[in-house]
Amino acid sequence: MNELQKKISEIGVVPVIKLSNPQRDAKPLADALCAGGVPVAEVTFRAAGAADAIRIMAESHPEMLVGAGTVMTTQQVDETIAAGGKFVVTPGLDIEIVKYCQEKGITIFPGCTTPTDYHAAYKLGLEVLKFFPAEQSGGLDKIKAMAAPFPMFKVMPTGGVSLKNLATYAASPVICACGGSYMVTAELIENGAWDEITELCKKSVEIVKEARK
Ligand code: 3PG
Repeated sequence: MNELQKKISEIGVVPVIKLSNPQRDAKPLADALCAGGVPVAEVTFRAAGAADAIRIMAESHPEMLVGAGTVMTTQQVDETIAAGGKFVVTPGLDIEIVKYCQEKGITIFPGCTTPTDYHAAYKLGLEVLKFFPAEQSGGLDKIKAMAAPFPMFKVMPTGGVSLKNLATYAASPVICACGGSYMVTAELIENGAWDEITELCKKSVEIVKEARK
């Protein structure tokens, strides 16, 4: 793992964020995440203005690891870098985007769930993959089965992760960190429930810490 991946692993969870109003919400959301001990965010390009959200979060919290999610094009990689983003997450394994990120020196976590994906990721020299969609693809059982032929990878399971199954994932040595939207749902953000988001983050960090003991 590189330094950024190690830091993400230490934090243990990665909030997956969709912001419809970055000008209003990006700063207070970043405040809430950092206050909860989760200074990391995957800001998805599913909402227009993702690059603005990345910029606002990164500028207001230079210590925070802000990256982009649901990146579908190399142009979005450029937008991420220009906005101060430190990593890129893609839903699937797109070789062109992986190579582009490697050229640009930005860490990429491509979504992988099959032996074919893992094999391609191995050839690309990757070390940490997003395992997406985690629960729907077989969850921890599948992650462990995949680790038999591919022990060189750590994964970030994302998709269906919640406070209920976080400990199970976090306890496995194959897991780098767990991604999820449960602590940053559209409802929490729309309601400006920043304290609740901070509490969910604190609880998540605690669960991961306990599970790794
Ligand atoms: C993602 O894009 O990574 C997922 O949609 C997040 O999945 P979740 O909403 O089930 O946490």
